[in-house]
Amino acid sequence: MYLPRHLAIIMDGNGRWARQRGLPRILGHQQGVDVVRGIVEECSKLGISWLTLYAFSSENWGRPEEEVEALMGLLVNYLRNELDTMLKHGIRLNVIGDIGRMPLAVAKMLQESMERTREQKGMVLTLALSYGARDEITRAVRKIAAAAASGEITADRVSEQMVGDYLDTAGLPDPDLLIRTSGEMRISNFLLWQLAYTELYFTEALWPDFKSDHLRQALHEYNRRERRFGLTGEQMKKEGSKEEGGRH
Ligand code: FPP
Repeated sequence: MYLPRHLAIIMDGNGRWARQRGLPRILGHQQGVDVVRGIVEECSKLGISWLTLYAFSSENWGRPEEEVEALMGLLVNYLRNELDTMLKHGIRLNVIGDIGRMPLAVAKMLQESMERTREQKGMVLTLALSYGARDEITRAVRKIAAAAASGEITADRVSEQMVGDYLDTAGLPDPDLLIRTSGEMRISNFLLWQLAYTELYFTEALWPDFKSDHLRQALHEYNRRERRFGLTGEQMKKEGSKEEGGRH
Protein backbone atom coordinates (compact mmCIF):
# COMPACT_ATOMS: atom_id res chain seq x y z
CA MET A 1 0.00 0.00 0.00
CA TYR A 2 1.26 3.48 -0.91
CA LEU A 3 1.02 5.90 1.95
CA PRO A 4 0.70 9.60 1.34
CA ARG A 5 3.92 11.20 2.54
CA HIS A 6 1.95 14.26 3.54
CA LEU A 7 -1.65 14.00 4.69
CA ALA A 8 -3.69 17.16 5.31
CA ILE A 9 -7.07 17.17 7.03
CA ILE A 10 -9.90 19.70 7.26
CA MET A 11 -11.58 18.62 10.49
CA ASP A 12 -15.19 19.67 10.08
CA GLY A 13 -18.51 18.86 11.73
CA ASN A 14 -17.84 19.27 15.46
CA GLY A 15 -20.75 21.69 15.84
CA ARG A 16 -23.19 19.45 13.98
CA TRP A 17 -22.08 16.44 16.00
CA ALA A 18 -22.92 18.32 19.19
CA ARG A 19 -26.20 19.72 17.86
CA GLN A 20 -27.39 16.26 16.85
CA ARG A 21 -27.02 15.29 20.51
CA GLY A 22 -28.54 18.46 21.93
CA LEU A 23 -25.13 19.42 23.38
CA PRO A 24 -23.28 22.75 23.34
CA ARG A 25 -20.95 23.14 20.34
CA ILE A 26 -17.90 23.13 22.54
CA LEU A 27 -18.55 19.52 23.53
CA GLY A 28 -18.27 18.70 19.84
CA HIS A 29 -14.86 20.36 19.77
CA GLN A 30 -13.89 18.51 22.93
CA GLN A 31 -14.78 15.22 21.31
CA GLY A 32 -12.88 16.44 18.24
CA VAL A 33 -9.71 16.78 20.29
CA ASP A 34 -9.97 13.12 21.35
CA VAL A 35 -10.17 12.19 17.67
CA VAL A 36 -7.12 14.39 16.93
CA ARG A 37 -5.21 12.48 19.61
CA GLY A 38 -6.07 9.09 18.11
CA ILE A 39 -5.48 10.07 14.47
CA VAL A 40 -2.12 11.73 15.22
CA GLU A 41 -0.93 8.61 16.98
CA GLU A 42 -2.22 6.34 14.24
CA CYS A 43 -0.65 8.38 11.41
CA SER A 44 2.66 8.37 13.23
CA LYS A 45 2.49 4.60 13.73
CA LEU A 46 1.52 4.04 10.08
CA GLY A 47 4.65 5.91 9.02
CA ILE A 48 3.11 9.05 7.53
CA SER A 49 5.88 11.66 7.51
CA TRP A 50 3.85 14.89 7.53
CA LEU A 51 0.37 15.43 8.96
CA THR A 52 -1.23 18.86 8.72
CA LEU A 53 -4.45 19.68 10.57
CA TYR A 54 -6.66 22.70 9.96
CA ALA A 55 -7.41 23.49 13.59
CA PHE A 56 -8.42 27.18 13.50
CA SER A 57 -8.95 29.38 10.47
CA SER A 58 -8.46 33.15 10.14
CA GLU A 59 -12.24 33.30 9.70
CA ASN A 60 -12.85 31.38 12.96
CA TRP A 61 -11.91 34.56 14.90
CA GLY A 62 -15.41 35.76 13.96
CA ARG A 63 -17.11 33.00 16.01
CA PRO A 64 -18.79 33.84 19.33
CA GLU A 65 -16.23 34.84 21.94
CA GLU A 66 -17.00 31.89 24.24
CA GLU A 67 -16.38 29.45 21.41
CA VAL A 68 -13.06 31.06 20.45
CA GLU A 69 -11.96 31.06 24.09
CA ALA A 70 -13.00 27.45 24.54
CA LEU A 71 -11.08 26.41 21.41
CA MET A 72 -7.95 28.20 22.69
CA GLY A 73 -8.38 26.39 26.01
CA LEU A 74 -8.70 23.03 24.28
CA LEU A 75 -5.58 23.76 22.27
CA VAL A 76 -3.53 24.63 25.35
CA ASN A 77 -4.75 21.48 27.14
CA TYR A 78 -3.96 19.41 24.09
CA LEU A 79 -0.40 20.72 23.95
CA ARG A 80 0.05 20.22 27.68
CA ASN A 81 -1.33 16.66 27.67
CA GLU A 82 0.24 15.46 24.44
CA LEU A 83 3.82 16.64 24.82
CA ASP A 84 4.96 13.36 26.38
CA THR A 85 3.22 11.33 23.68
CA MET A 86 4.83 13.48 20.99
CA LEU A 87 8.24 12.94 22.54
CA LYS A 88 7.59 9.21 22.89
CA HIS A 89 6.61 8.83 19.23
CA GLY A 90 9.27 11.15 17.84
CA ILE A 91 6.68 13.68 16.65
CA ARG A 92 7.86 17.22 15.85
CA LEU A 93 5.34 20.00 16.25
CA ASN A 94 5.12 22.74 13.67
CA VAL A 95 2.65 25.61 13.27
CA ILE A 96 1.48 27.59 10.24
CA GLY A 97 -0.74 30.67 10.23
CA ASP A 98 -0.71 34.19 11.58
CA ILE A 99 0.45 33.21 15.05
CA GLY A 100 0.84 36.88 15.99
CA ARG A 101 -2.95 36.97 16.35
CA MET A 102 -3.05 34.15 18.91
CA PRO A 103 -3.41 35.08 22.59
CA LEU A 104 0.04 35.52 24.11
CA ALA A 105 -0.23 32.56 26.50
CA VAL A 106 -1.23 30.24 23.64
CA ALA A 107 1.54 31.55 21.37
CA LYS A 108 4.05 30.96 24.17
CA MET A 109 2.82 27.42 24.74
CA LEU A 110 3.08 26.70 21.01
CA GLN A 111 6.60 28.11 20.92
CA GLU A 112 7.60 25.99 23.90
CA SER A 113 6.10 22.81 22.45
CA MET A 114 7.87 23.41 19.13
CA GLU A 115 11.11 24.02 20.98
CA ARG A 116 10.76 20.86 23.07
CA THR A 117 10.05 18.67 20.00
CA ARG A 118 12.52 20.39 17.67
CA GLU A 119 15.01 17.53 17.47
CA GLN A 120 12.39 14.81 16.94
CA LYS A 121 12.96 12.76 13.82
CA GLY A 122 9.54 11.16 13.29
CA MET A 123 6.31 12.60 11.88
CA VAL A 124 5.99 16.36 11.56
CA LEU A 125 2.62 17.42 12.97
CA THR A 126 1.68 20.84 11.58
CA LEU A 127 -1.23 22.68 13.16
CA ALA A 128 -2.78 25.37 10.99
CA LEU A 129 -3.83 28.04 13.49
CA SER A 130 -5.23 31.45 12.70
CA TYR A 131 -4.57 30.20 9.19
CA GLY A 132 -6.02 31.34 5.88
CA ALA A 133 -4.33 30.55 2.57
CA ARG A 134 -5.07 33.95 1.04
CA ASP A 135 -3.59 35.59 4.11
CA GLU A 136 -0.54 33.31 3.89
CA ILE A 137 -0.06 34.15 0.20
CA THR A 138 -0.57 37.86 0.86
CA ARG A 139 2.05 37.82 3.63
CA ALA A 140 4.45 36.01 1.28
CA VAL A 141 3.86 38.53 -1.54
CA ARG A 142 4.45 41.37 0.91
CA LYS A 143 7.83 39.87 1.90
CA ILE A 144 8.83 39.30 -1.73
CA ALA A 145 7.82 42.85 -2.63
CA ALA A 146 9.89 44.18 0.28
CA ALA A 147 12.89 42.10 -0.86
CA ALA A 148 12.49 43.51 -4.39
CA ALA A 149 12.08 47.07 -3.14
CA SER A 150 15.30 46.81 -1.12
CA GLY A 151 17.15 45.49 -4.16
CA GLU A 152 17.78 42.11 -2.52
CA ILE A 153 16.05 40.37 -5.47
CA THR A 154 14.93 41.39 -8.94
CA ALA A 155 11.42 40.72 -10.32
CA ASP A 156 12.67 38.22 -12.90
CA ARG A 157 14.10 36.03 -10.15
CA VAL A 158 10.65 35.38 -8.65
CA SER A 159 9.88 31.73 -9.34
CA GLU A 160 7.38 29.13 -8.09
CA GLN A 161 10.14 27.77 -5.89
CA MET A 162 10.73 31.22 -4.38
CA VAL A 163 7.02 31.80 -3.71
CA GLY A 164 6.88 28.40 -1.98
CA ASP A 165 9.88 29.34 0.13
CA TYR A 166 8.14 32.47 1.38
CA LEU A 167 4.98 30.58 2.43
CA ASP A 168 4.48 29.35 6.01
CA THR A 169 4.86 25.81 4.68
CA ALA A 170 8.42 26.38 3.39
CA GLY A 171 10.31 23.11 3.77
CA LEU A 172 7.18 20.91 3.81
CA PRO A 173 6.34 18.87 0.71
CA ASP A 174 2.92 19.56 -0.82
CA PRO A 175 0.15 17.35 0.58
CA ASP A 176 -0.47 14.12 -1.35
CA LEU A 177 -3.92 13.62 0.11
CA LEU A 178 -6.45 16.01 1.63
CA ILE A 179 -9.32 14.63 3.69
CA ARG A 180 -12.32 16.77 4.57
CA THR A 181 -14.95 15.43 6.93
CA SER A 182 -18.65 16.22 7.35
CA GLY A 183 -19.73 16.04 3.72
CA GLU A 184 -18.79 19.62 2.78
CA MET A 185 -16.96 19.73 -0.54
CA ARG A 186 -14.93 22.88 -0.24
CA ILE A 187 -11.31 23.83 0.37
CA SER A 188 -12.28 26.76 2.62
CA ASN A 189 -9.11 28.81 2.18
CA PHE A 190 -6.81 25.93 3.21
CA LEU A 191 -3.38 25.51 1.54
CA LEU A 192 -4.57 26.94 -1.79
CA TRP A 193 -1.07 27.03 -3.30
CA GLN A 194 0.07 23.69 -1.88
CA LEU A 195 -3.01 21.66 -2.92
CA ALA A 196 -2.40 22.17 -6.67
CA TYR A 197 -1.94 18.43 -7.35
CA THR A 198 -3.29 16.95 -4.14
CA GLU A 199 -5.83 14.13 -4.22
CA LEU A 200 -9.05 15.24 -2.52
CA TYR A 201 -11.14 12.90 -0.39
CA PHE A 202 -14.46 13.86 1.14
CA THR A 203 -16.31 11.80 3.71
CA GLU A 204 -19.73 12.26 5.27
CA ALA A 205 -18.39 11.33 8.71
CA LEU A 206 -18.39 14.24 11.15
CA TRP A 207 -14.93 14.86 12.66
CA PRO A 208 -15.86 13.58 16.15
CA ASP A 209 -16.96 10.30 14.49
CA PHE A 210 -13.86 10.00 12.31
CA LYS A 211 -12.08 6.88 13.46
CA SER A 212 -9.36 4.52 12.36
CA ASP A 213 -11.67 2.79 9.86
CA HIS A 214 -12.45 6.09 8.13
CA LEU A 215 -8.76 6.89 7.87
CA ARG A 216 -8.01 3.48 6.40
CA GLN A 217 -10.82 3.88 3.90
CA ALA A 218 -9.37 7.21 2.77
CA LEU A 219 -5.90 5.69 2.44
CA HIS A 220 -7.36 2.81 0.49
CA GLU A 221 -9.10 5.20 -1.90
CA TYR A 222 -5.85 7.17 -2.28
CA ASN A 223 -4.21 3.96 -3.46
CA ARG A 224 -6.73 3.63 -6.27
CA ARG A 225 -6.10 7.11 -7.60
CA GLU A 226 -3.83 7.62 -10.58
CA ARG A 227 -1.74 10.71 -9.95
CA ARG A 228 -0.51 12.30 -13.17
CA PHE A 229 0.60 15.83 -12.34
CA GLY A 230 -0.48 16.96 -15.82
CA LEU A 231 1.51 14.22 -17.58
CA THR A 232 0.21 11.13 -19.45
CA GLY A 233 -0.35 7.81 -17.70
CA GLU A 234 2.53 6.30 -19.69
CA GLN A 235 4.94 9.04 -18.68
CA MET A 236 4.00 8.54 -15.07
CA LYS A 237 4.64 4.80 -15.30
CA LYS A 238 8.13 5.56 -16.60
CA GLU A 239 8.78 7.95 -13.74
CA GLY A 240 7.40 5.41 -11.27
CA SER A 241 6.57 8.48 -9.32
CA LYS A 242 3.55 7.30 -7.36
CA GLU A 243 5.98 5.62 -5.01
CA GLU A 244 6.24 7.34 -1.66
CA GLY A 245 3.84 10.09 -2.60
CA GLY A 246 5.23 10.93 -6.01
CA ARG A 247 6.56 14.19 -7.31
CA HIS A 248 6.18 17.30 -5.22
C1 FPP B 1 -14.93 22.58 12.53
O1 FPP B 1 -16.13 22.21 13.12
C2 FPP B 1 -13.85 22.53 13.49
C3 FPP B 1 -13.21 23.63 13.97
C4 FPP B 1 -13.54 24.99 13.57
C5 FPP B 1 -12.14 23.49 14.95
C6 FPP B 1 -11.36 22.23 14.89
C7 FPP B 1 -10.81 22.04 16.21
C8 FPP B 1 -10.64 20.87 16.85
C9 FPP B 1 -10.90 19.55 16.28
C10 FPP B 1 -10.19 20.90 18.25
C11 FPP B 1 -8.93 21.66 18.52
C12 FPP B 1 -7.77 21.13 17.78
C13 FPP B 1 -6.60 20.75 18.32
C14 FPP B 1 -5.49 20.39 17.42
C15 FPP B 1 -6.37 20.62 19.75
P1 FPP B 1 -17.33 23.25 13.09
O2 FPP B 1 -17.41 23.86 14.43
O3 FPP B 1 -17.18 24.18 11.94
O4 FPP B 1 -18.52 22.26 12.85
P2 FPP B 1 -19.90 22.59 12.12
O5 FPP B 1 -19.57 22.94 10.70
O6 FPP B 1 -20.64 21.30 12.24
O7 FPP B 1 -20.53 23.72 12.88
